[in-house]
Amino acid sequence: MLLEHPMTGAVPITFIEPRRHPMHAHKTPAHDSYGRRIDYLRVSLTDRCNMRCVYCMPTVGVQFLPRPELLSNDELILVLRAAAAAGFRKIRLTGGEPTLRHEIVDLVRAIKAIPGIEHIAMTTNALRLRHLAVPLKEAGLDRVNVSIDSLDPQKFRQMTRGGSLDDVWAGVRAADEVGMRPIKLNAVVVRGMNDDEVVRLAALTTQYPWEFRFIEVMPLTGVAGLAEEGVISSAELVARITAHFGPLEPYGQDPSDPARRYRIPGAPGKLGFISAVTDPFCATCNRMRLTAEGRMHLCLLRDDELDLRAAVRSGAGQDEIEQLIRNAVSLKPWGHGLPEGVLPTLRGMSQIGG
Ligand code: 5AD
Ligand code: SF4
Repeated sequence: MLLEHPMTGAVPITFIEPRRHPMHAHKTPAHDSYGRRIDYLRVSLTDRCNMRCVYCMPTVGVQFLPRPELLSNDELILVLRAAAAAGFRKIRLTGGEPTLRHEIVDLVRAIKAIPGIEHIAMTTNALRLRHLAVPLKEAGLDRVNVSIDSLDPQKFRQMTRGGSLDDVWAGVRAADEVGMRPIKLNAVVVRGMNDDEVVRLAALTTQYPWEFRFIEVMPLTGVAGLAEEGVISSAELVARITAHFGPLEPYGQDPSDPARRYRIPGAPGKLGFISAVTDPFCATCNRMRLTAEGRMHLCLLRDDELDLRAAVRSGAGQDEIEQLIRNAVSLKPWGHGLPEGVLPTLRGMSQIGG
């Protein structure tokens, strides 16, 4: 575009997008067909991981996506701008392991700059966080969730098939020091593996102002066998922790947080219990997922997906992608079918990012 400059004649200027109100107040944020406002997008940046947690990845048969199949950084930013315009406000970066993504720090910075995105968090195994905590914080990452299934280095190595507890712990401390608060730690409790550590893990909250969340193992592709032993329910965990520490105090509930929260009386930290299997929280679901290859994945525990990448690669603009995302939101199923025995079959957890 050319404008006449009074002194020099025609000079090229850069095209500047018309400024939108940062909250897109003139638009209705997307609601699904059940009236749930969907404003939280979990974005898988890669299906690769530098661990192989027993409840997440099978030992054999995992095929990773070739790099050209993934959305590029520019493609991803376009999709996330469209998502923000459709009313998404919170982004969580997941994987696989999101810190394995090339240029992760620049990517975080670019996402943080998208108008409408208010909060950006990451679920990471923390192996690389010792060195990344400072640059990620500086780029605008607000918080991290880290999984710690065991406080015994041998057991940790066994459950993650090779992860170093020392490195993970150093990563958590680095995130804490840089002020990514509150730190949330997750443990997936597997019978016969780490269920004997529940009290020890819960005791961390008496030492640190962190939230420790216990997650019921979900029977996703490749690891369904783990759940056959019998999922350890949150109710059973609460009973075990209560037997040790006495009655837990319920702690302020956020309706869109799947964790039921408690506190050991007097503890600086909190406990959370995520019971997707025994006490589904679909009624207050506020989230959808974007896979690394650019598909909207409508419900964690169902196979339904809507492809955005084809549109992006055929030159669709932000408004068109926003419409596709709104359409995906309107197609979001009510909830999962675990009670009826309907299991997702197409993807494992490492391809969706929890
Ligand atoms: N069931 C429940 N949670 C899982 N995660 C991975 N696999 C499973 C599963 N089968 C969780 C882990 C990890 C996050 C990415 O997903 O807690 O931190
Ligand atoms: Fe990797 Fe996370 Fe899956 Fe473990 S749970 S294998 S750290 S993606």
